[in-house]
Amino acid sequence: MTQMDHIALDEQARAILRGNDRGGYTVPTAGLYPYQWNWDSAFAAWGFAQFDVGRAWQEVETLFSGQWPNGMVPHILFHKPDPGYFPGPDVWGTQGKGPILSSGISQPPVAATFVRAIWEKDRAAGEPRARALFPRLRDWHRWFMDWRAEDGAICITHPWEAGRDNAPDWDGAMAAIDPVGVGEYTRRDTSHVDPAMRPTKYDYDRYIWLVQLGKRLGWDEAALKEHNPFRVADPTMTFILLRANRDLAAMGRALGEDVSEIEEWTAALEAGAAALWNEDLASYDAKDVRAGRFAGCVSSASFLCWYGGVDDDRMLAQVERVWGAVRYPVPSHDPESPEFNAKRYWRGPTWCIINALIGIGMADAGHAAQADQLRTGTAALVARHGFAEYFDPTDGSPAGGGTFTWTAAVWLGWASPSAGRA
Ligand code: GLC
Repeated sequence: MTQMDHIALDEQARAILRGNDRGGYTVPTAGLYPYQWNWDSAFAAWGFAQFDVGRAWQEVETLFSGQWPNGMVPHILFHKPDPGYFPGPDVWGTQGKGPILSSGISQPPVAATFVRAIWEKDRAAGEPRARALFPRLRDWHRWFMDWRAEDGAICITHPWEAGRDNAPDWDGAMAAIDPVGVGEYTRRDTSHVDPAMRPTKYDYDRYIWLVQLGKRLGWDEAALKEHNPFRVADPTMTFILLRANRDLAAMGRALGEDVSEIEEWTAALEAGAAALWNEDLASYDAKDVRAGRFAGCVSSASFLCWYGGVDDDRMLAQVERVWGAVRYPVPSHDPESPEFNAKRYWRGPTWCIINALIGIGMADAGHAAQADQLRTGTAALVARHGFAEYFDPTDGSPAGGGTFTWTAAVWLGWASPSAGRA
């Protein structure tokens, strides 16, 4: 890539963030995702921080304006009605639960890590904003520890909560659901993009059935913990919360706050992460808590161990095998598994956000060569194939939505040769 190329791409990435700005928050992409999504927004803030720190703070502040009194930060905030999206606020039925109409589940808590990075851009100017967000981030992390931790591993209660909607990791737990009474509904996602790149009807029936269950139980966490058949310990959640928690503690210390509770969570999460090691698979894996069974999946989330601060050389063999099997790593699912599908969302495609997190973690752990390979490979992928939602790992072809916020953000924050990488 020439210098001219990457400067033009930097420009394009900034234009995508500006173009997806709806006034205080960005949408992931127009049409397909017309609201504010939780972890998308945290990535967007990281992207904005590379050229407009004030706008970066605002993105996170708008996200936290939707925090529920129990500490949960929803995975979608429905700021303005949009009939082009399903399931909307009526299906979720969360009216009265939080300050803004929203979904009833959360998403991977990358926010604290990016808030710390934004703050590092200008500590003095950012201090009042960091001070205001700190207790909100802590309440959210506490909510995870109270309601989602099983022996320190963080569970999801809906596949959408992991942000890896149709990953094969959930197939076992999904098969245990009989989506009886789900009724008729009209999907909107498949009118925006090719259905072959989206989850199947089989999966969608279960997604909606789980939303209906949550609504019926009034989104009461205690009731859900008892009655929800879907409860899967997830490497994405566990490793991401582990890192976010350390970053939150570092912020708290710098702000003169008591962080002893946060440090206890870190110790618990470390034990939880270790429990996700599947010896038979020789990899970190998801675990169905209800059935007491590992999923048996090497996914891109398995490689987040380093990001979580777990320096585990045993995963290097998987790096070699899995990354070596495709042209553009990291595939979201093991390319040598029968479930691998190069086009279908989280069952094979490469996602730049996961690459960035893996790359950052590997660089921290001293695996500089692999981290660099991943970063330059991701940069080449975007330079050749654009700012797509995700990519076919075998040939790089773009898939899903275009002009995607988080792909642009990852470009600016990490993949671009001019990225600050902080
Ligand atoms: C899909 C992705 C999820 C993301 C959302 C908006 O549901 O699986 O991770 O947050 O789209 O981009």
